[in-house]
Amino acid sequence: MTDELVERARAALDAAYVPYSDYRVGAALRTADGTVFTGCNVENANYSNSLHAEEVALAEAVKRGHRSFDALAVASGARDGVTPCGMCRQTLAEFCDDDLPIRCDEGDGRVSEYTLGELLPAAIDTGTLEAAERGGK
Ligand code: THU
Ligand code: ZN
Repeated sequence: MTDELVERARAALDAAYVPYSDYRVGAALRTADGTVFTGCNVENANYSNSLHAEEVALAEAVKRGHRSFDALAVASGARDGVTPCGMCRQTLAEFCDDDLPIRCDEGDGRVSEYTLGELLPAAIDTGTLEAAERGGK
């Protein structure tokens, strides 16, 4: 069965700008109202400035006023089941609940699915900062 959101993530791969790693990543983030925002990685000669596909998709959605999301799909050109990196997991946790499904393209129609909470248990959130304020840390 074709997973529509995974297909949208795959379609976003084409726009990836990857002269340094040659590793394309596409992401498709679905909002609570069903709108899908996509992103691709955009690399930089200063490697650490590279934008990740998930960040680009999330920023595009937030820029348009969306803050509630119900699914994410991620694909790489290698069809290797790539998952969002640690930084992207934390970035997603700012807006998404632990039960956000994350579908990862494994190629040949295979998809592995995780929840954000599985990939990032004990994310830092506003509660973390409030606790620090209470504890005076
Ligand atoms: N990449 C993403 O776009 N998302 C991730 O979460 C994993 C890594 C990109 C960054 C870089 O352009 C390439 O994949 C290799 O790390
Ligand atoms: Zn990332």
